Amino acid sequence: MKSSLSRRLFLRDSVLFAGAAGAASLPLLARASGEVAAAPAAGALGPVQISANEYPDGPSPAALKAIATIAPLGGRYLHEVQLELLEELSRQLGVETKCLMPYAGSTEPLDYTMLAFTSPERALVTANPSYEQGWRAAGRNGAKVHKLPLRKDWSHDVQAMCAADANAGIIYICNPNNPTGSVTARKDIEYVLEHKPKGSVLVLDEAYIDFYDSAESGVDLVAAGKDVIVLRTFSKLYGMAGIRLGYAVARPDLLAKLKFYSINSLPVTAVAAGLASLRDPSLVPTRRASNRAIRTDVTTWLAAKGYVCSTSQSNCFMVDVKQPAETFIEAMATHGVMVGRSWEGFPTQSRITVGTPAEMARFKQAFALVEAGKRGSYPIPERRRLADRYVRHTGIQLA
Ligand SMILES: Cc1ncc(COP(=O)(O)O)c(C=O)c1O
Repeated sequence: MKSSLSRRLFLRDSVLFAGAAGAASLPLLARASGEVAAAPAAGALGPVQISANEYPDGPSPAALKAIATIAPLGGRYLHEVQLELLEELSRQLGVETKCLMPYAGSTEPLDYTMLAFTSPERALVTANPSYEQGWRAAGRNGAKVHKLPLRKDWSHDVQAMCAADANAGIIYICNPNNPTGSVTARKDIEYVLEHKPKGSVLVLDEAYIDFYDSAESGVDLVAAGKDVIVLRTFSKLYGMAGIRLGYAVARPDLLAKLKFYSINSLPVTAVAAGLASLRDPSLVPTRRASNRAIRTDVTTWLAAKGYVCSTSQSNCFMVDVKQPAETFIEAMATHGVMVGRSWEGFPTQSRITVGTPAEMARFKQAFALVEAGKRGSYPIPERRRLADRYVRHTGIQLA
């Protein structure tokens, strides 16, 4: 009884989430026909979700078509399609397939990397603010976690990181960084490889690399045989956070340490969507340019109002909201705009994800109201409450 009520509320909110246009059509989960649903856009009334660094348009049309095409074959493991993904990645990245391991997102290989290369004797060295999933995994593994400030230009302070702990097992660099969107130059990455503690590995988390105009990926360093593990995901620019696909790129001896923890088949829908996305040459440049234009517009607007934003090359940035971030986040939600969280040690900074132009217009409207001390009366959507319950149940790290 209770769960059917929850389901009804969820479906109602799905309609709400789809906005005014969505209200006239079937709810998201009730679409039973062969029709392919478009990503729900936040209309004039729907909540604006700019809290989790997702791409607002969702999977590309080609990816959606590929999912629909392969789903009827989903009773099979289809390992040959999974091999096709590796071969496509190998061609595009210029590394051998033996240096690639696919996963359902990049959280898994990030956790396995932490388990494999940290211990009570081998520390994790990271920046702060940066993505904390690895901190938690290394902490569970009994490792010390050294959190070093970013430099003034928001890049990783690689000299300090290399000097932090002679027994470090991992130097973790998120490039571009979550939550700041800032980048760390290639010469700094090379510095780490030359100066990192003996026996340690450099982990390059490239979840947001596709947004970066002059992307300087570290994948070629794998091909060159360096002690580096590169992690990539389709959750961000490719709009597949809920579809789940990612991969690790590393020397086979390093990958073997990740494989120790789990080897699994992938959802073939995710693989097909990933392949279709990789084979669409216009997808990355188009989405990158669109994200850049929208990000520049909103950060320029904030700067003109006197708010300092991080220098971002990604689909998120930090802004100093000049009040406790928690108060700001809650006040924005009363206007139906769900912005991102704050980071330890940065109590007045909130992370904002770049949404659609319409979503960012709603963001600006709500921001100005919150700045003027005005609260709205937007009800917290039931789907958000249910999502929060799931996050609490699983202990999943928020993006
Ligand atoms: C820097 C970074 N790495 C990895 C992930 C994990 O993403 P996923 O498991 O969806 O690939 C995220 C998610 O937000 C992230 O921000």
